[in-house]
Amino acid sequence: MTPKLSARHLLDTLDELARIGAIEGGGCSRLALTDEDKAGRDLVVGWMKALGLEVHIDAIGNVIGLRAGRENLAPVMTGSHIDTVRTGGRYDGNYGVLAGLEVVRALNEAKVTTRRPVAVAFFTNEEGARFQPDMMGSLVYAGGIGLNEAYAAADKDGVAVGDALRRIGYLGTARPGALKPHAFVELHIEQGPILDEEKVRIGVVESVQGISWTEYTVTGVSNHAGTTPMRLRRDAGYVAASVNLFARKLAWEMGGHQVATVGALALRPNLINVVPNRAVFTVDLRNTDEAKLEEAEAKVAAHIAEVAAAERVEVEAKVLARFEPVIFDAGLVDRVEHHAKALSLSTRRMPSGAGHDAQMMQRICPTAMIFVPSVAGLSHNVKEHTEAADLVAGAEVLLNLVLELAEG
Ligand code: HGY
Ligand code: MN
Ligand code: MN
Repeated sequence: MTPKLSARHLLDTLDELARIGAIEGGGCSRLALTDEDKAGRDLVVGWMKALGLEVHIDAIGNVIGLRAGRENLAPVMTGSHIDTVRTGGRYDGNYGVLAGLEVVRALNEAKVTTRRPVAVAFFTNEEGARFQPDMMGSLVYAGGIGLNEAYAAADKDGVAVGDALRRIGYLGTARPGALKPHAFVELHIEQGPILDEEKVRIGVVESVQGISWTEYTVTGVSNHAGTTPMRLRRDAGYVAASVNLFARKLAWEMGGHQVATVGALALRPNLINVVPNRAVFTVDLRNTDEAKLEEAEAKVAAHIAEVAAAERVEVEAKVLARFEPVIFDAGLVDRVEHHAKALSLSTRRMPSGAGHDAQMMQRICPTAMIFVPSVAGLSHNVKEHTEAADLVAGAEVLLNLVLELAEG
């Protein structure tokens, strides 16, 4: 019997998982390793067990549900993440994990045992919103950083990853990466405007752009807002604002895929009548071209040095994440395109603007991604939305590709 995807289950499980950490406006807040993340993990692990999967939890909290194959070979793996940013939508990450579970359900109901095992994974802390770097669990899985380095990463309150993992009961025993996949395919919403604007159904993702996260701490002198003449000021808040304006202007001037974001900014003492003596802010730079990303980094760093010298403030920089662009396996990318076309779905090849666990898995096995449209390109926003028909279409492409790979 040919395995058939259940649209109903996919949409229902998406709604049910979205109820965990639900926030005003229809989105989710399940920051990595919080109680909400634990609750989401417990729900999905329960679904994995109900589908008969053998659940492995590794030492960085990655969770892999494994379905046996006819032969004991390297598995075909799919999956994504179920942690969210604080103002997240309900599809980012969750969709790829739950569609993976629907592939398993389709195999179960058709009583099909594939030649290779099939695995569905969710990785720890993909978002990097609480602990940096992002894609942390899959980076450890791919051998990019060691467990101790990951365990030591701390959030703004000084809580370390290792302690938070233990607290939520997901500090597992399996060695990260022990289960080396034959191939990895991640289904994800585009999170950008291209597919929606061009009315294309499936994004055939060829690469993930490079990402550069830096946190700057600027130290000036707090002073009276009324009595301090401009010539005497050492205003940390002004330097932070200057960097924001510079980075934005630079991105516009560079054009292409260059983007720049000052997403987090904290001033101290943060009072209306005090010149700030401290500004802590982040700069997120991305580009599909590594050389251009390095150029953007160098120009922002030069600007900060110049404006800090003029304002006579101190600046400390801390790199929070730095990943070069990743090119996915060309053969596997072709198969994504093949299966989308075989379902008469329009396609277009494209890079990913967002980071994904797939960019880490490409380090250890052939990897590719399937995108479905995000309405108005909105994401990391409670209004994130993908039409049901597109959610189902993407899952059907995933099912057919996993079936092909699992017989390979
Ligand atoms: O920042 C990103 O691109 C991803 O959501 N972690
Ligand atoms: Mn994601
Ligand atoms: Mn995200």
